Amino acid sequence: MFKLAVLASGRGSNFQSIVEKIEAGQVPAAVEILVSDQPGARALDLANAHGIDTAVVKREDFPTNKAHNEAIVEILKPRNIDLVILAGYMRIVKAPLLEAYPHRIVNIHPALLPAFPGLDAQKQALDYGVRVSGCTVHFVDAGVDTGPIILQAVVPVEQDDSVETLSARILKEEHKLLPRAITLIAQGKVAVQGRKVWIQS
Ligand code: GRF
Repeated sequence: MFKLAVLASGRGSNFQSIVEKIEAGQVPAAVEILVSDQPGARALDLANAHGIDTAVVKREDFPTNKAHNEAIVEILKPRNIDLVILAGYMRIVKAPLLEAYPHRIVNIHPALLPAFPGLDAQKQALDYGVRVSGCTVHFVDAGVDTGPIILQAVVPVEQDDSVETLSARILKEEHKLLPRAITLIAQGKVAVQGRKVWIQS
């Protein structure tokens, strides 16, 4: 079975969509562990409700970001994880984790990258006045939301949108896009060459 580790800091709705699609037989993978840096994350409750192992790795328990990343690697290593999913993980992944999982960490971002990377992507899109936005699943590299793009989905931006209404429209697509990307990777259909990601049809 293709083994996933999910890292999440908060609400966990993307994590939930992955778990539900796995349980429905729509994603050929298993979530081995949910790791959170936030002890109060709703994602942890969801994991418990689905009988999924959890670990809390708080940043403040470690002297450096590197040590924090190393601690996560130590938790993942014995589980032979095939793919690490950042699902609302609000930290920048650094060397020890990146090096342990080259091209095997994916992130979901609520904008059409390379537009609007970083925090508050939906607000950035609204403030800029774009007519469409969406979400991006990409491999994680050393930059912020800069890695090779796997899949994107587009949604319209309406004139009367608020951050909340646009975020909700994008989130609906996120919940489909991330499981789809995981499925393609689990099926061995995804290859990376430089910035380009090739998907076998
Ligand atoms: C999503 O919008 C995701 O794109 C971003 O953080 C949010 C996480 O939401 N990276 P959730 O915790 O999955 O509900």
